[in-house]
Amino acid sequence: MRILRRLPIPFALLACVFLAPAASAADGITRGTVYRDAPDNRYLLGGDWLFRLDTAGKGLEQRFQRQTSKEGWQTTKVPNAWNAGDNSVASMLGTVGWYRKDFRLPDARSRMDWLVRFESVNYRSRVWLNGRPIGRNTGAHLPFDLRLPRSALKRRGLNRLVVRVDNRRLRTDFPPSGLTGSGDPAGGWWNYGGLLREVYLQRVDGVDISSVLVRPELSCRTCAASVLMRVTVRNYSSKASRVSVSGRFGSSSVRLGAKRIKARGFASFQRRVRISRPRLWSPASPSLYAASFTARAGARKAVTTRLHSGIRSIKVVDGRLLLNGRPLSLRGVGLHEDDLVKGEAIDRARRTQIIDQAKELGATVIRAHYPLHPEMHELADRRGLLIWSEIPVYAIKTQYLKRLEVRKLAARELEDNIRANQNHASVMLWSVGNELSARPGPVQGDYIRRAAKRARDLDPTRPVALAVAGYPSAGCRPQYAPLDIVGINEYFGWYPGPNGQIADRDGLSDYLDLVRKCYPKKAVLVSEFGAEANRDGPVEEKGTFSYQQDFVNYHLAIHGSKPWLSGSIYWALQEFRVRPNWDGGNPRPNSPIHEKGLLRFDGSKKPAWFDAQRLFNATNQLGGR
Ligand code: GCU
Repeated sequence: MRILRRLPIPFALLACVFLAPAASAADGITRGTVYRDAPDNRYLLGGDWLFRLDTAGKGLEQRFQRQTSKEGWQTTKVPNAWNAGDNSVASMLGTVGWYRKDFRLPDARSRMDWLVRFESVNYRSRVWLNGRPIGRNTGAHLPFDLRLPRSALKRRGLNRLVVRVDNRRLRTDFPPSGLTGSGDPAGGWWNYGGLLREVYLQRVDGVDISSVLVRPELSCRTCAASVLMRVTVRNYSSKASRVSVSGRFGSSSVRLGAKRIKARGFASFQRRVRISRPRLWSPASPSLYAASFTARAGARKAVTTRLHSGIRSIKVVDGRLLLNGRPLSLRGVGLHEDDLVKGEAIDRARRTQIIDQAKELGATVIRAHYPLHPEMHELADRRGLLIWSEIPVYAIKTQYLKRLEVRKLAARELEDNIRANQNHASVMLWSVGNELSARPGPVQGDYIRRAAKRARDLDPTRPVALAVAGYPSAGCRPQYAPLDIVGINEYFGWYPGPNGQIADRDGLSDYLDLVRKCYPKKAVLVSEFGAEANRDGPVEEKGTFSYQQDFVNYHLAIHGSKPWLSGSIYWALQEFRVRPNWDGGNPRPNSPIHEKGLLRFDGSKKPAWFDAQRLFNATNQLGGR
């Protein structure tokens, strides 16, 4: 757009004629992605979609997947959470919804193959093209691609992409379903159903880049960096192809070589580049290097993909988390991708707002219970926020984790997160879960071992973490041995905890020292602390703004008195929908809203915001002198 604005009007018109694929613009298909680190062959499947709810579960039988008329369907936009604003128990439990996109291909040339890419579908999905089943997926927050079979695809006519989304979750899902003590649906955040992030078409011209790894390695602050680049190319055609890959990293150009890739085969191209005096990335100066890679089949350019990389090291040494060799005392916030109106199907404006809020607060780290939207990662890269990157292996009961299959699926979830998000400088660790049993036995021990090994095999440059519910009675746990970082969710003086052991906040300081003694070689962070607040009232009364203020001051003072603590993350930045009949420890709750946020759901600041902001800013978070 910027380029068009600078052109004289007749040229701009001409450019529009060449750039806009007329047939598809009408279907809301536009070239490009909402995030900027992407291949150049993606098209956003925007515009109008169709939707119908299927609470009776009759859609399959009634063949919604083959229906050509629009009867019974209503118009919607994607991303979409069909139950945003419906705070009922039924809404939290989930149901089935169907999405449909009628579209023409933006490029009808017969040599092109096409994929469809879903960024996040909650939770189980089945997909059809023109009535033909083309694939399935399980689990939200991570992307998946499906190939559109040539035999089902219409090059010129109207295609129908249909997605059946089932958001009724099982006890073995991530996060699991379950019931609270009072029989209400359990869960740490709202179960929004739908196509929660964007859907794209991807055009493949013979070969495609199926993955890119750019991994900077830095052994000291003043050392040269070595950047590993690995590009995996897939040949979609039925003929072998001679493929070459070239690229750039900052101002250096790189040739990654040429190979013959057999029909329908894969090949990886790898190179290392030395950057002798790197500009290091840190929250204080988030310098990024632009990188790009082009795959050519013969003489023809097939695809170019772009990304941004940051050179920095993040390591645990002698019980401290170090960024570029300096010890961290991070301060930050946990958050959810949630919006009053749109639910989890948030847009760019909301993502920018969340990142702006975290920056305004003085945070250097953010945490979520699931992989964030790709654009959130990019904003964190650019604005200088570290991400505690976690998978929704959230409070899974040991009786379910006991099943080997569940542990393997959880480890696979971690793998998918690493593959999807490892190029981001902002990602500081891989968290394998949150609040599994606080007294782990062999089952959790096996999961931690398996997951930590998998994470290190895939990415030896980042520490592995787990967030645990902080109770003194848990003692020192040998099962945490494979971890580099232990995150403590501490609610001293808020929840009573088993046998009232954390009811008194005065126990916090000794408890943290105990944790330190248990894990002297690991980095320890407070991964959560927080108190609900929704009203004025006395400082002694839980749920008041002054109680929350006092809580923030007390906890941050104790955290600040532990020089060995690598960080402290308040839960949460802002209010969000959690679950029906939530009280969160507040005697006067406002279910289903989780109210520990420093910001209300409408974005206004609670008094404790200013305390956290003052204390965050008064902390030497990055260990600089
Ligand atoms: C947890 C959990 C959060 C939750 C918080 C709370 O332990 O990790 O997702 O919101 O406690 O109780 O407020």
